Amino acid sequence: MADVLKTVFLTPSEISGRVFEMAGEISRDYTGREILVIGVLKGAFVFMADLIRALSVPCRTDFIRAASYGAGAESSGKIVITKDVELPVEGQDVLIVEDIVDSGLTLRHIMDTLKSRNPRSIKVCAFLDKRKRRKISFEADYVGFSMDDGFIVGYGLDFNEQYRFLPAVYVLDPAPAREKEENG
Ligand code: PRP
Repeated sequence: MADVLKTVFLTPSEISGRVFEMAGEISRDYTGREILVIGVLKGAFVFMADLIRALSVPCRTDFIRAASYGAGAESSGKIVITKDVELPVEGQDVLIVEDIVDSGLTLRHIMDTLKSRNPRSIKVCAFLDKRKRRKISFEADYVGFSMDDGFIVGYGLDFNEQYRFLPAVYVLDPAPAREKEENG
């Protein structure tokens, strides 16, 4: 595994420091309120688990999952909700938690879907922002880290469902990873 993980992009201590800062900012913004935190599966579950435990305001949690049609790393633009939230959204202060914003298409679709259910407010918190890869205009309200490009794994982020468990974020070289998988 180590041979395909090129470099550490974010160490566990850099991650926890920034998550703590973000949780502080969010807690200040939502003082006196309860947040409905909605994580976007699967990638966001690690970040969300750390973030909610660092909040000083109460929250309830739920999850949503979306799939984009088309193979590979590039989204075709058609987003479908494959697992909906179970708690009512109407009248709630919703905070969508996402691991990464890339084209912006997934979050735009999720935002539009949840907005149509009349939340009191709705904001987005993203662990990573690949701003230069947007296909549509989309701004997250809270961003952990920004990066230009590069395939990254760890801290919830996967390559073919591998590496989500890693406590750091690594830049992956996908070519040797694919080769390794094909060769067993
Ligand atoms: C990734 C990521 C976001 C989405 C971002 O999910 O977790 O949900 O893609 O891409 P976009 O901004 O171009 O729409 P992925 O489909 O890889 O699923 P996963 O979270 O289960 O790994």
